[in-house]
Amino acid sequence: MKPKIGVFSIIGLVALAMLIAAGQAVIAAEQAAEYPSLPKELIIKRGFTPDALRCIECHAKKMPGIVEGWKASRMSHAGVSCYDCHVVKKTSPMASQCEGIKGSQIFISPMVSSKTCSRCHPQEVEQFLKSGHGKLATAAVMDPAKAGGKLIKLQFWYEGAAFMDGIKLKWNTGTPVGSKPYMRASRASGCQMCHGTTVELGPDHKPINQTWPGGVGTRYPDGSVGTCTVCHTRHKFSIADARKPEACGACHLGPDHPNIEIYMESKHGQNYLVHGEEYKWDSPPEAWEPGDYLAPTCATCHMSGIGDLATTHNVQERLKWDLMHKKSVVRSGARGDGVKGEKLMRKVCANCHGPTHTKTQRATLNYAVELYNKYWDGATKMAAELKAKGLLGPDPWQDGFQELMYYLWHHTGRRARQGAAMNAPDYAHWHGFFQVFQLYQDMVNIYDRRMKTGKIEPYSPVISSAPY
Ligand code: HEC
Ligand code: HEC
Ligand code: HEC
Ligand code: HEC
Ligand code: HEC
Ligand code: HEC
Ligand code: HEC
Ligand code: HEC
Repeated sequence: MKPKIGVFSIIGLVALAMLIAAGQAVIAAEQAAEYPSLPKELIIKRGFTPDALRCIECHAKKMPGIVEGWKASRMSHAGVSCYDCHVVKKTSPMASQCEGIKGSQIFISPMVSSKTCSRCHPQEVEQFLKSGHGKLATAAVMDPAKAGGKLIKLQFWYEGAAFMDGIKLKWNTGTPVGSKPYMRASRASGCQMCHGTTVELGPDHKPINQTWPGGVGTRYPDGSVGTCTVCHTRHKFSIADARKPEACGACHLGPDHPNIEIYMESKHGQNYLVHGEEYKWDSPPEAWEPGDYLAPTCATCHMSGIGDLATTHNVQERLKWDLMHKKSVVRSGARGDGVKGEKLMRKVCANCHGPTHTKTQRATLNYAVELYNKYWDGATKMAAELKAKGLLGPDPWQDGFQELMYYLWHHTGRRARQGAAMNAPDYAHWHGFFQVFQLYQDMVNIYDRRMKTGKIEPYSPVISSAPY
C-alpha cells in the first residue's frame, strides 16, 4: 500500500511554510533596521553551526554559483548545508583541506557519493543500488571482464588511438597499464560521463587520470557507488527537475538508445511539449498524481508513485524485457524480475487507459520483441557458420559482416524495440524495423558471397559512420 500524504503532514507542511515565512519576516525586519540594504545571504543564518556558516559565507564570495543553487534547494531550508555533505573524517581516503580550512581539524572532499545521502535517505539509496543505475552501469565501461575485454580495447586501443603508435597495453585494470593520458580522453569525455568511472586518487587525495567527475554508477575510493546528481542536478537537488524528461535525456539519447527522442515523438511527449508548463511539478513525494499532469513523463512510468504504486529509485522494477542487449529476454537475476515488472508497468497505464488499450500495447511490444529476436537469431546462425569456415575477420571493426551485426542489435534493433515499447511509431518503424531488415539483407549478401568464394572481401564495404 502506498503511503499517501496524510492530513497531518499537510498540516505540518503548511505550518512549516508559515514558520519559515514568519521567521524570515522577523529576521528580515530586524536586519532591515540594522542594515539599510539587506544582503540576501543573511537570511540563511538560521539553524547553522558556526563551522557550517563559515563554509557558506566564504563560498558565497568564492563560488557564488554553487551557493545560489544550494540556497534555492529544499535542503537548504531544512538546514542541510555544505558541511553535511562535503565534510569527511580525517581518515577518509578522499580527505583534503581547501584554502579556507587549512590547518584546522576539518577535512572535506569535492567527491560526494550516494553513501553521504544514505545517512538521511537510506531507502532511496538502497533502491538505487539495486538498479542498473548502480554497479551494472559502471561495470559496462570499466570492467575488463565485460565482453572479454572488448570494450576496454575499444575505448583505449581504437578510440584512444593506441593502435597508431603501436603501444602495447595490458588489459588487467580499468585504466590499462601503458596507456598515455590522451588515450583516456574519449572514455573520460564520453562513456564515463554517462555510465560512471572508478575514481583514482593521487597522493593529495584528489582525483587523477581524468576519472572524476563521473556518471550515474561512479565508484568512489571508499568503496561507495553512485552519483545522485545525474537526475537531481546540484546544488538544487530538486524533485521537480528529476520528474522532467530532460533529467533523463542527458544520457538516454542518440542513435543507440534514443529514449528522449522516442518520448518527444510519442503522444505522451506531445502533451508534455504542449501543456508541460501547466503541469504541477513540485507536489510532495508520493503525492504527484494524474491531474498534476495529463500525460506521463519518464519518471511517471519508471519511478514515481502513481495510483497504488509507491515511488521507486530502482528503474528496473517496472520492466519486463531486457531491450538493450543482443537478444531480448524476460528480465531475471541482476537485471530484475520481468514477471513482476510486467504487472507493475500495467498498473501505471491503468491510471489513464482502459484495459483493452493497455492489453494491445503490451501485446504489440511482445510481438516486436519476437520479431526482432527472429532477425537476431538469423544473424547469429550466419555468424556461426562463417566462423566455422574461418570466414569472420579477426578485427570486428574492420569486417563488414560483423560491423553490420553490431549496428543490427546496438542501434537499429534497440530503436525498433524501444520505439515499440514507448509508443513512437517513427522510431519503431523508420529508424527501427525498416533499417533492421535492410541491414539484415546486406548481411545475407556478404554471407552468401563469402560462402561462395571462401574469402573475406579485402575491404569492409561498410562506411563506419554509416547512417545506422
Ligand atoms: C545535499 C548534499 C550537498 C550539499 C548540501 C552541498 N553539496 Fe556540493 N556537491 C554535492 C554532490 C553530490 C556533488 C557532486 C560530487 C561528485 O560528483 O562526486 C557536489 C559537488 C561539489 C563541488 C565540486 C564540483 C564543482 O563544481 O567544482 C563543490 C566545489 C561543491 N560541491 C561545493 C559545495 C558548497 C560550497 C556547498 C554549500 C553551499 C555545497 N557544495 C553543498 C553534494 C552537496
Ligand atoms: C575562507 C574561505 C573558505 C572557507 C571558510 C571554506 N572554503 Fe572551501 N574553498 C575555498 C576556496 C578559495 C576554494 C578553492 C581553492 C581550494 O580548493 O583550496 C575552496 C574549495 C572547496 C571545495 C572544492 C575542492 C576542490 O578540490 O575542488 C570544497 C568541496 C569546499 N571548498 C568545501 C568547503 C566546506 C565544506 C567548508 C566548510 C567546512 C569550506 N569549504 C570552507 C574557500 C573556503
Ligand atoms: C543531513 C541529512 C541529509 C543529507 C546528508 C542529505 N539530505 Fe536530502 N533532504 C534532507 C531533508 C531533511 C530533506 C527534506 C527537505 C524538505 O522537504 O523540506 C531532504 C530533501 C531532499 C530531496 C527532495 C527535494 C525536493 O525538491 O523536495 C532530494 C531530491 C534530496 N534530499 C536529495 C539528496 C541527495 C542527492 C543527497 C546526497 C548528495 C542528500 N539529499 C543528502 C536531508 C538530507
Ligand atoms: C548520467 C546518465 C543517466 C541518467 C541521467 C539517467 N540514466 Fe538511466 N541509465 C543510464 C545507463 C548508463 C544505463 C545502463 C545501465 C547498465 O549498464 O545496465 C541506464 C539504464 C536505465 C534503465 C534500464 C534499467 C536497468 O536496470 O536495466 C532505465 C529504465 C533507465 N535507465 C531509466 C532512466 C530514467 C527514467 C531516467 C531519468 C529519470 C534516467 N534513466 C536517467 C544512464 C543514465
Ligand atoms: C550519452 C550517454 C552514454 C554514453 C556516452 C555511453 N553510454 Fe553506454 N549506455 C547508455 C545508456 C543510457 C544505456 C542503456 C541503454 C538501454 O537501456 O537501452 C547504455 C548501455 C550500455 C551497455 C549495455 C548495458 C550493460 O550493462 O551491458 C554497454 C555495455 C555500454 N552502454 C557501454 C558503453 C561504452 C563502452 C561506452 C563508450 C565507448 C558507452 N557505453 C557510452 C549511455 C551512454
Ligand atoms: C534516474 C534519476 C534519479 C536518480 C539517479 C536519483 N533520483 Fe531521487 N528522485 C528522482 C525522481 C524522478 C523523484 C521524484 C519521484 C516522485 O515523483 O515522487 C526523486 C525523488 C527523490 C527524493 C524525494 C523523496 C522520494 O523518494 O520521492 C529523494 C530524497 C531522492 N530522490 C533522493 C535521491 C538520492 C539520495 C539519490 C542517489 C542514490 C537519487 N535520488 C538518485 C529521480 C532520481
Ligand atoms: C508511458 C510510459 C513510459 C514513458 C513515458 C517512458 N517509458 Fe521507458 N519504457 C516504458 C515501457 C513500457 C518499457 C518496456 C518495459 C518492459 O520491458 O515491459 C520501457 C523501456 C525503457 C527502457 C529500456 C530498458 C531496457 O531494457 O533496455 C529505457 C532505458 C527507458 N524505458 C527509459 C525511458 C526514458 C529515458 C524515458 C523518457 C525520455 C521513458 N523511458 C519514458 C514505458 C515508458
Ligand atoms: C498520466 C496518464 C497516462 C499514463 C500513466 C499513460 N498514458 Fe498513454 N496516453 C495518455 C494521454 C493523455 C494520451 C493522449 C490521448 C490522445 O491521443 O488523445 C495517451 C496516448 C497513448 C498512446 C497513443 C495512442 C492513442 O491512444 O491515441 C499510447 C499507445 C499510449 N498512450 C500507451 C500507454 C501505455 C502503454 C502506458 C503505460 C505503460 C501509458 N500510455 C500510460 C495518458 C497516459
